[in-house]
Amino acid sequence: MTRGPARAGAGVPVDDAMIARYRQDGFLVLPPITSDTELSELRRIYDRLFERRRSLEAGDFYDIAGRPGGDSGPTLPQVIRPEKYEPRLLRTAHFLTSRVIAGRLLGEDPDRLDFFGHMILKPAVHGSETPWHQDEAYMSPAWENRGLSIWMPLDEVTLESGCLHFIPGSHRGAVVRHFHLGYDPAVRGLATDEVDPADAVLCPIPAGAATVHDCLTLHYAGPNRTARPRRAYVLVFKAPSRPVAGAASRDWC
Ligand code: NI
Repeated sequence: MTRGPARAGAGVPVDDAMIARYRQDGFLVLPPITSDTELSELRRIYDRLFERRRSLEAGDFYDIAGRPGGDSGPTLPQVIRPEKYEPRLLRTAHFLTSRVIAGRLLGEDPDRLDFFGHMILKPAVHGSETPWHQDEAYMSPAWENRGLSIWMPLDEVTLESGCLHFIPGSHRGAVVRHFHLGYDPAVRGLATDEVDPADAVLCPIPAGAATVHDCLTLHYAGPNRTARPRRAYVLVFKAPSRPVAGAASRDWC
């Protein structure tokens, strides 16, 4: 049930037509959701968190594309729940605007949404690709998930630096078969080959703009072939979920 008007409010760049497009395609490109000043502050916080990664709690920093303790440096390092270490992230226009947008797209009261932040770094030159996947493949099938990710790059993102690719309408299907990268269960990253990349829509966007995608939307990001890091800050929002009776387990879980 939608609470409040489903139209754009001050500072929230989502109108009814955008909501309809999101429900049709399972993804949406948003104009900037933060200011240049705040973006500079977010970059400082982001860089500081990756620099102090060894002091973060176990599980809050890992390389999703590699084995734990692997020999080579991380190629797709992530910081999970950065707001735990930098509570000011929850007082930014970026967070507050994103939460209202998520509420409108999910048809939920923003205050009832669960959320967590997620910072993904594709290092310059050797940042690896993020293979095709659905975010819901990472979630428990025992729960009916209704959620989305608001993905904001802190640097302009291009095809060469690893912009997102989406398959329109794929959120209306089920979770497809996934496998661990390299067929190695020690690697956290999941991938699927049940996708036709020819159907993809590419979304290069400037720093501070964002894309939103449903947790069932198939998406991919290429490797970073540029000389600059590709810093992305993702906010994941979930509506209150219900248990699924008799849920089947998944091979890759
Ligand atoms: Ni994803």
